[in-house]
Amino acid sequence: MAFNHDHILDMKQFSAEDITTILDTADSFKEISQREIKKVPALRGKTVVNLFFEASTRTRTSFEVAAKRLSADGLNIAASTSAVVKGETLEDTAQNILAMKPNIIVMRHGHSGAPHYLAERLEGVSILNAGDGCHEHPSQALLDMMTIREKLGGFEGLKVTIIGDIAHSRVARSNLIGLKTMGAEVRLAGPGTMVPREFEQLGAKVHHKIEDAIDGSDVVMMLRIQRERQGKTLIPSTREFARYYGLNPVKLKLAKPNALVMHPGPMNRGVEISSSVADGEQNVILEQVENGVAVRMALLYLVSGADGSIDG
Ligand code: CP
Repeated sequence: MAFNHDHILDMKQFSAEDITTILDTADSFKEISQREIKKVPALRGKTVVNLFFEASTRTRTSFEVAAKRLSADGLNIAASTSAVVKGETLEDTAQNILAMKPNIIVMRHGHSGAPHYLAERLEGVSILNAGDGCHEHPSQALLDMMTIREKLGGFEGLKVTIIGDIAHSRVARSNLIGLKTMGAEVRLAGPGTMVPREFEQLGAKVHHKIEDAIDGSDVVMMLRIQRERQGKTLIPSTREFARYYGLNPVKLKLAKPNALVMHPGPMNRGVEISSSVADGEQNVILEQVENGVAVRMALLYLVSGADGSIDG
């Protein structure tokens, strides 16, 4: 198993072989979460710091659970309760944490490129990007890809449609890059103000009528409106957005009969997705969350350079 990455910063860094290695490793870790004793010694003696400058439910918890299941010592630092509120810079905060000799820093930040900035400046520690501004969210894309591969068997030729506020979505960008690397067709849809044509340069097909994008899809992934990243209002009203761009059972019928319905969370029911679709038979939303633990175990394991057996 060859995996030569000290940091995990974005999906651009990965070849198809890297993605396959990560997903295969995650598959083997998934079984550990189904055991009665959900713990293996693979990362015993390693320290993982979760450094979160933005709110998170799934990603932070999932990295914390993943570290614990691998027997690493994990600790969480939320910017809101740290010395950041007293004016400390990102680099000083990180250098102070580094002085305590962690092996891995998992970081979420509101500014695109913040994890890359730290990776260039800090020696002797791996940086894992847990979401940076509108840029990338690689672990989310990988757990989405694990779920798609598990359910549909692979990626080649699949039609994956991502709908919503694409312009501000790090999830959309990371999925687009990862899915294209693996041979899928990616369609992006939403209002013109939220789906710029520039995404065509990354290999996506851009649609502004979501019915055209959903038609014949294998996967429909819905995204929330990222109001916290929008400088100005990009839609006339939430009600109009829900009407034209929200996924309901009528629109979902245009996809293939067993198409997967995905959402990275947090969901806004009644806006981008109706409750009947969010809770319907085609949704795999909580399976995405379950696979998130396995993918993050795989990322922590691979980036730490561990090459022994998983069970020690
Ligand atoms: N999908 C995702 O990143 O969710 P959180 O913001 O809860 O981590």
